[in-house]
Amino acid sequence: MHILKSGVGNQIKVNDKRYLYFAGNNYLGLANQATLKKDVISCIRKYGLSFSASRGTTGTCELHLELERLLSEFKNKEDSVTFASGYMGNKILLHALQDKFSAIFIDSSAHPSILDGIPSTICKSFFYDHCNEQHLEDLLKTNRQYKPLIITDGVFALTGEIAPLDKIYLIAQKYNAILVVDDAHATGILGENGRGTPQHFQLDDSANIFQTETMSKSLGAYGGFISGSANIINQIKKKSSIYLGSTALPPPIVAAGIASIKQLKLHPELRVKVLENAQYVRNKIRNMSFATTIDNTPIIPVFFNSQENANSLSQYLYENYIIAPCVEYPVKMNKYLVRITVSAIHTKDQINNLVRSLNKWRDNHGID
Ligand SMILES: Cc1ncc(COP(=O)(O)O)c(C=O)c1O
Repeated sequence: MHILKSGVGNQIKVNDKRYLYFAGNNYLGLANQATLKKDVISCIRKYGLSFSASRGTTGTCELHLELERLLSEFKNKEDSVTFASGYMGNKILLHALQDKFSAIFIDSSAHPSILDGIPSTICKSFFYDHCNEQHLEDLLKTNRQYKPLIITDGVFALTGEIAPLDKIYLIAQKYNAILVVDDAHATGILGENGRGTPQHFQLDDSANIFQTETMSKSLGAYGGFISGSANIINQIKKKSSIYLGSTALPPPIVAAGIASIKQLKLHPELRVKVLENAQYVRNKIRNMSFATTIDNTPIIPVFFNSQENANSLSQYLYENYIIAPCVEYPVKMNKYLVRITVSAIHTKDQINNLVRSLNKWRDNHGID
């Protein structure tokens, strides 16, 4: 584990040395951006550090309403609700939907927040093979006695794959299933306006699709949110014990969210840039014959058959002042990987530096 001695940008400081940073999830480079920091500091001056109360009691501030209004506008939905972390979003949403389904159909490499979010009242969980819509359909076909809900990551955190939502949605319609997408890694990145995986597949306004999202990745802030119909958001605000029983998002975090949504709207070129950078790096990695994935997202894994080789690459990069971790993360995987992420703020020189180091390591070690 690297102990940071700076904030995150295209470089970070570890052990008093500077490293190029191809890790984490700061895809648009907003986490350390000057406008956001200025807004956060003036917000702390006015509102302090915490509202020290839950939203349903005395913790709702005008700032929360402003943030939720901006999120609704960004997502083109009637209303939005914010809460303490993206991780809690799946539990909050699945709880709000629990009367509408009796079995849940889950991608087998789903994020742990999805697994932790399954309501205890749901009698049956089925795992379909990763991104395999045919297997999903087989499971739905043979389990018609249930009211189904399908849930998947939109973009997978470790592999950067985009779930085949277009095909999954057709199946969801055929079997009258609700579809939930955890879009933590797609918000702000995919789709014409950065609204995420459904928008990427032109499913943005389709019925029976719900998204859970976070402000902690491309938005560079913190906290989870759900945008949707006034009805579902109202239900969460009135009934969710997680929402009602936890302290409201604190002033600096709300201010960061507000500033970041504004930046997203003002600077659509950041989205274009991160995907341009990602495509460039992925193409180079593929040309070196490393095993990786093909979808154009900022997460670019380099797969290995052994932990030893994954560690060796990550360590070699570190020795060359580049951070790209060999991740240990609670998602089911049958390969070892170095997780490279690119952002809109990486320069061509920095990217070419990474590519040169990858090339040198490959020349000495091969690609397995
Ligand atoms: C797919 C997915 N969902 C949810 C989360 C949790 O989001 P947060 O870290 O904002 O709580 C993550 C974070 O890594 C994630 O990768």
